[in-house]
Amino acid sequence: MRKEPIFDVAQLAHVEMYSPKPDETLWFFKELLGMEESHREGQSVYLRAYEDFYHHTLKITEAKEAGLGHVAWRATSQQALERRVSAIKETGLGKGWFEGEVGQGAAYQFTTPDGHNMELLWEVDYYKAPPELRTPLLNRPQKKPTRGVPVRRLDHVNLMNSEMKPNVDFMLNTLGFNLREHIQLKDGNDVAAWMSVSPLVHDIAMMGDPLGGMGRMHHICYWYGYPQHLMDISDLFVENGIKIEAGPGKHGVTQAYFLYVIEPGGNRVELFGDAGYLIFDPDWKPITWREEDLEKAIIWYGSQLPQEFFQYGTPIIGDKKTAPIG
Ligand SMILES: [Fe+2]
Repeated sequence: MRKEPIFDVAQLAHVEMYSPKPDETLWFFKELLGMEESHREGQSVYLRAYEDFYHHTLKITEAKEAGLGHVAWRATSQQALERRVSAIKETGLGKGWFEGEVGQGAAYQFTTPDGHNMELLWEVDYYKAPPELRTPLLNRPQKKPTRGVPVRRLDHVNLMNSEMKPNVDFMLNTLGFNLREHIQLKDGNDVAAWMSVSPLVHDIAMMGDPLGGMGRMHHICYWYGYPQHLMDISDLFVENGIKIEAGPGKHGVTQAYFLYVIEPGGNRVELFGDAGYLIFDPDWKPITWREEDLEKAIIWYGSQLPQEFFQYGTPIIGDKKTAPIG
């Protein structure tokens, strides 16, 4: 019998990213991607896209190495938060409650089995635009920025795993994510999985880490909604020395119209031209791409992804050849 679905996690709230070059990373997100700074404190700066309704969706923290700080998920209610905290505690992966972060209430911190830091929260501060950024378009939290080619909202995060199954199972069974699509090898093991709690085809993707790293980040993704913006931002990247790793192109999996770049701090950032497709079916059967389908799964059209795409993540490990920069 079908398991009763869990509706306790609502959405991706924000991501913290480490950067060894915080000034350059900030320049990338603010001047090229048109993001707005909402706060700075200590070694961290808080940013949001112009259609992000909360205080921030990206926290950039200065650190020795690039990588993931943490991923924050918003629960559907305070009760839902408490239910999921009990479930997380049962797995032994809970770390405890944390209070005092700007822009949010109490958050329960935990890790995935692979060690990615995550938190779950209910209370968030909503962004209030200062007078000069207020817009008469009332369903937008602020005016559209006039810098760069501005992204509209945070879309998803993609994490690498030393071992797929325990991490995917944790997202599905403990947090209540739905498996939307996956790539399965002949031996029955998955090498990649796309999962969501929202109608988006993925709020999170997980990929195997061929270098055996633990807790690495593959990329974060911001959404444009229009594929043309990928061409427009590509011009700015080429003119401003930002390495385009792949795209614009279209994936088979998720049907995403993508562009991948490496920001100056070394983290991979994806820009999404459209939303792929949306899922409203409560009885969704996961799409299984097998080895024989791989070519179309990875690229629907456009050129193939470079080998480094499957190996490079942050923190950077292994042979320098796997790094698309430096
Ligand atoms: Fe992605």
